[in-house]
Amino acid sequence: MTTHDTFRSPTTLRVGTWAELGTDAQAVRSAVFVVEQGIPAELEWDAADAGALHVVACADGVPVATGRWLTSDEPGVVRVGRMAVLAAHRGGGLGRRVLDALIDAARAAGHATVMLHAQESAIGFYDRAGFEAVGPSFVEAGIVHQEMRRRI
Ligand SMILES: CC(C)(COP(=O)(O)OP(=O)(O)OC[C@H]1O[C@@H](n2cnc3c(N)ncnc32)[C@H](O)[C@@H]1OP(=O)(O)O)[C@@H](O)C(=O)NCCC(=O)NCCS
Repeated sequence: MTTHDTFRSPTTLRVGTWAELGTDAQAVRSAVFVVEQGIPAELEWDAADAGALHVVACADGVPVATGRWLTSDEPGVVRVGRMAVLAAHRGGGLGRRVLDALIDAARAAGHATVMLHAQESAIGFYDRAGFEAVGPSFVEAGIVHQEMRRRI
């Protein structure tokens, strides 16, 4: 696991495995996806977590943001998912820092492209980070999504 401290805020980013970060990632995802968005818990947890690379951001030691990527069937393409920032911590650049850390780790692992299924309300966030929409939108877990991709 690697840890990045910054001088800008007392927020610490950690990059690691599910064994290292799962408890903290789960706390954030449960608050955002299950409690806030009402997504059934059984759709939120999947077996992919065990093999994914995870990022967790903590503010003053409390987990407040997370995301993950996993390899896909396409060589060189990783899929980012489960991006979540606690509501009280949004709009301050934390989501972008988590996404950048995921992308940096994917690039370091030799991958060339990041793809994801963006919730419709988050398309602008990924657009700001250089992702482009690919194909038509579709419904997943009852929410409209859009595939987006970025070369890294
Ligand atoms: C989407 C989410 C991860 C963004 O995190 P955040 O910390 O609020 O985002 P940031 O503050 O890092 O924003 C980075 C940039 O994206 C923009 N942005 C953030 N959310 C946006 C949105 N929903 N729509 C359009 N632009 C957005 C910001 O204005 C900022 O722009 P800038 O580069 O011009 O300053 C967060 O809102 C969240 O957890 N939402 C609920 C769960 C969710 O939708 N997850 C995504 C599932 S695909």
